[in-house]
Amino acid sequence: MKVESKKVQVALLGIGTVGTGVYKLLKKRADVMKDIAGAELEIVKILVRNLSKEREGVDSSLFTTDWNEILNDSEIKIVIEVMGGIEPAKSMMEDALRAGKHVVTANKDLLAEHGGELLDLASASGCDLLFEAAVAGGIPIIRPLKQCLAGNEITEVMGIVNGTTNYILTKMFEENMGFAEALEKATKLGYAEADPTADIEGLDAGRKAAILASLAFHSRVRFKDVYIEGITKITADDIAYAKELDSVIKLLSVAHHTEKGIEVGVYPMLLNQEHPLAAVRDAFNAVFVHGDAVDDAMFYGRGAGEMPTASAVVGDVIDVIRNLQYGCNGRISCTCYKELPICSFDEVKNKFFIRMQVKNEPGVLAQTAKVFGDHKVSIHRVIQKNAKETKAELVISTEKVKEYHLQDALQELRVMDSISEISSVIRIY
Ligand code: NAP
Ligand code: HSE
Repeated sequence: MKVESKKVQVALLGIGTVGTGVYKLLKKRADVMKDIAGAELEIVKILVRNLSKEREGVDSSLFTTDWNEILNDSEIKIVIEVMGGIEPAKSMMEDALRAGKHVVTANKDLLAEHGGELLDLASASGCDLLFEAAVAGGIPIIRPLKQCLAGNEITEVMGIVNGTTNYILTKMFEENMGFAEALEKATKLGYAEADPTADIEGLDAGRKAAILASLAFHSRVRFKDVYIEGITKITADDIAYAKELDSVIKLLSVAHHTEKGIEVGVYPMLLNQEHPLAAVRDAFNAVFVHGDAVDDAMFYGRGAGEMPTASAVVGDVIDVIRNLQYGCNGRISCTCYKELPICSFDEVKNKFFIRMQVKNEPGVLAQTAKVFGDHKVSIHRVIQKNAKETKAELVISTEKVKEYHLQDALQELRVMDSISEISSVIRIY
């Protein structure tokens, strides 16, 4: 459907952190939109839940609580979904695509669960469904994976993809700030999800990991396929040890395409200070990609917040308008043309940092080492500190070992009389 009119009407679904940023940026760029995209753009409706809520700087005459007003308006060509959540966002996107409207979204929850079917629907409807903002906020990473790196066989995509947790870990590390205070600040800054459990328990990063792995390996990876651990168990003691080991702790999303299939997980890791990802602070994100032709590529920038996320959304909107000028919407849809198996996380190999409280008496270290040895866990380093009369803290780092061997060893250690607590188990990059 080629657009002859030089004014494109759009509707926003939601006007929270991201919606407000998109509204502001589209207004700010209004006078150059025609030069950039080939047509002017007009926001004609904004879907909200509550009409009487004060929304500073936004034209309240645009507000509606009735989705049908947007759906049935054939002049509205683009729907920008920035409400979040699965429903009603999913049904609205499906309605919009079936009605021939193009959709731009920041909704990783929805894409990580239903991305394949939504992209297929977009393709069948000849519509664009663009989602650059869904992973790593303002960083261009979806388009690079789908387009610029399309000539590569990608074997690794990993990085820091949640701004809230990176902000919290940075504040804990650099300012000895407590977890709760750092989370409160991240929420005030607009980084956190409506329910920040999704951030701190690693679910948000897990959804992004699923999207990134699907794009990188051309095979659909769903949220349920991702092994997930959050950062809620990371303590000030762990951070103190990390410093002593010249490392930082980061919540990483890690995905590999191996001979056996796709390995994908999100978990906190100790990372040496010299690693480029160690320098990614506050709400910044970074994504590493390894391809057979490009070798290593790294994408860095602001992973959350009003204007960085709006930057990605508005870029997508401009792309849709450009496509409208040439009648070529829906050109690049789902790129998952393979069906690779998902590897069991039990088989994934990592190095580990294990902190435990033990009895301070002869033979305990030897017993502990034997349990590790019996389960094929090779010890790299041992630190014993804080020895009081009867108790001591033992920290062991391991060589690379399969997850299930390490878990079997921990299960045995947990019931030993001489070990009162396994306080932390953190993977090491
Ligand atoms: P938010 O601040 O909570 O805003 C959500 C907006 O959607 C609010 O205006 C809300 O209306 C509206 N809304 C929610 N459910 C609705 C419904 N059923 N009907 C009508 N309106 C509804 O969320 P956000 O942080 O902007 O995030 C929006 C989306 O962007 C999410 O998918 C999120 O994961 C994604 N994202 C966020 C960031 C970020 O940095 N915040 C970055 C990248 C991606 P009311 O105001 O009336 O409650
Ligand atoms: N809550 C998300 C984060 C927003 O902190 O990264 C960006 O997706």
